[in-house]
Amino acid sequence: MDLQKKATSPRKGGGYFISFEGGEGAGKSTQVNHLAEHLRQDGFDVVVTREPGGTAGAESIRHVLLAAGTQGYGPAMEAILFAAARTDHVDRLIAPALKAGKIVLCDRFIDSTRVYQGTTGEMLQGYIALLEKIAVDGTIPDLTFILDLPAKEGMTRANSRRKPADIIDRFEKAGISIQENRRQAFLKIARMEPGRCHVIDAARPVEIVAAEIAAISDKKIHEQNP
Ligand code: TYD
Repeated sequence: MDLQKKATSPRKGGGYFISFEGGEGAGKSTQVNHLAEHLRQDGFDVVVTREPGGTAGAESIRHVLLAAGTQGYGPAMEAILFAAARTDHVDRLIAPALKAGKIVLCDRFIDSTRVYQGTTGEMLQGYIALLEKIAVDGTIPDLTFILDLPAKEGMTRANSRRKPADIIDRFEKAGISIQENRRQAFLKIARMEPGRCHVIDAARPVEIVAAEIAAISDKKIHEQNP
C-alpha cells in the first residue's frame, strides 16, 4: 500500500503519524478536521482519532478519567490510566492503521500526559517516561503540532463555545496559572524536540492556521516519502 496515493512509506511499519497538542480552547479538533479534509482531497487514506479514547477500551477509561470523582486519586494513578488507554489505542487502532500505510491524525497524545500529569512534580518525570515507553512501544508521532495560545485567551474561547448542557471536565476547570504552566511545558517540549514538534500560533484566524498546518504537513510527508 502506497502512502502517497496508497504506497509503502519508508517509515518502519509504514504510514505517517501526526498528533495535535495544546491547551484548552486552542482549536485542536477543528484543525484536525481541516487537515483530514486537505489530505483526503490529496488522495491519502486518513484516520482521525483522539485521546483519551479512540477505541472501545480506551473510551471506557476516558469516561473514568474525565469524571469528577477521579481527581482524588492523584497524578500517578491518573498517568497509569492514560497509559492503559493509550496502550489499547496504539495496539488496536494507531499501529495497525500505520502498518496499512494510512495517515493517522490524533487529537492529543504523549505530550498531553507529559504536560498535564508531568507538570505536577519533577519526581514524576521518570515514571511518566517509563509509562510512555510501555504504552507507545515505539509508535511516536512523526510530526506534532503544538497549538499555542495565551492561557487567558484559550479559557475565554473554551468558555464561549461551551453549551449550557456540556459537562466541564476537571482538567478544564484548572485556573489560569495552571493553564499557563501547561502552555510553557508544551513550549519546552517543542524546544527539546524541534524535529518532531512545530509550534503554531493559534491566536490567528482558523483558515490561516489551517493553511500553515497543511503546508508543513505536505512538506514533511513529502520529505519522508519523496
Ligand atoms: P477533551 O474533552 O478531549 O479535551 P480537549 O478538547 O481539550 O482535548 O478532554 C481531554 C482532557 O484530558 C484534556 O483536558 C486534557 C486531559 N488529558 C490529560 O490530562 N492527559 C492525557 O494524556 C490526555 C491525552 C489528556
